[in-house]
Amino acid sequence: METVVSGIRSTGNLHLGNYFGALKNFIQMQNEHNCYFFIADLHSLTTHPTPGDLHKSVRTVLVEYLAAGLDPEKCTLYIQSDIPEISELYLFLNMNAYLGELERVASFKEKVRSQPNNVNAGLLTYPVLMTADIIIHKASKVPVGKDQEQHLEMARNFGNRFNRMYDVEYFPEPYAFNFGKELIKVPGLDGKGKMSKSAGENTAIFLSDEPEVILKKIKKAVTDMTPEQANSPKPDSIQNLFDLMSLVSASDTIAHFEETWNNCSIRYGDMKKQLAEDMNTFITPIRERIKEVDADKDFIAKAVKIGEEKARASASKTIQEVKEIIGFRKLY
Ligand code: TYM
Repeated sequence: METVVSGIRSTGNLHLGNYFGALKNFIQMQNEHNCYFFIADLHSLTTHPTPGDLHKSVRTVLVEYLAAGLDPEKCTLYIQSDIPEISELYLFLNMNAYLGELERVASFKEKVRSQPNNVNAGLLTYPVLMTADIIIHKASKVPVGKDQEQHLEMARNFGNRFNRMYDVEYFPEPYAFNFGKELIKVPGLDGKGKMSKSAGENTAIFLSDEPEVILKKIKKAVTDMTPEQANSPKPDSIQNLFDLMSLVSASDTIAHFEETWNNCSIRYGDMKKQLAEDMNTFITPIRERIKEVDADKDFIAKAVKIGEEKARASASKTIQEVKEIIGFRKLY
């Protein structure tokens, strides 16, 4: 049995990228391993949410975690800010994290480009906080999507640096995990990047989306010309539609549209209609369950309370040992 840690930022509703990149693996792993899954509300502070929005988003993600199938009895499900030991470990790790290496992180460089007016220190040290999240439970496996790969490499660096500095073998090396398969990148509907909320609400399909919303968004998805030559390579926008289909559609459906692509008879309208239908079939039980969980205040309260207790027990043990290693010892 291994220790697993992973989280999702509290920025509102979860989309299919979160589901297939991370949450699906959380659900599968909770039966086999010692799992800690959390809502990264400290990380979301980099975007300066209002108190009301922050609270609402944390609740939304918690409800959607539970609705998608995370079981608070099987895994430890908690809210990051309920565990102050994470912030304490973040502070210790920051002392050995260097400006040069932090400035080179791709996600940081992207933020510098996209939001030059809000390049705060929290963004710069984002991978350090993420490391603290993972190693506070001495985890070895981290189920995440492809976009988090570099952050995991930094987590290994920071953990190893601590071990070397104090000449201990305390923190194990954490690795990104997807059941032995490649990490996943779910594309957005804009024909370009990954599915994400920041790329625009219309490029993402949310687990709470109603059928008509799903259809409307998919109808607007970017496509290309119909191919003129048999068996042509697919442009990104079309490959993205096929990639999305591979997540929710049956293999004979995908094979059918592959064939129409290859023989140049593809009709994007038909493909989109089918994709919307299959996404809706996939999402409907989760969407229905979201409504049920959302109305069950006692279930939600119980879930966060046991999660907080279990996560703090593990985190406080680590912090005590870390402080002892660093040399913080009582003088009384
Ligand atoms: P976040 O909140 O952006 O995304 C949460 C998880 O969803 C995955 N994901 C995707 N996977 C595939 N395709 C996509 N389009 C897609 N969009 C999102 C992400 O890879 C991630 O696994 N820094 C993290 C949260 C975090 C964390 C951690 C994760 C904080 N501390 C410790 C693991 C361990 C983040 O911003 O993910």
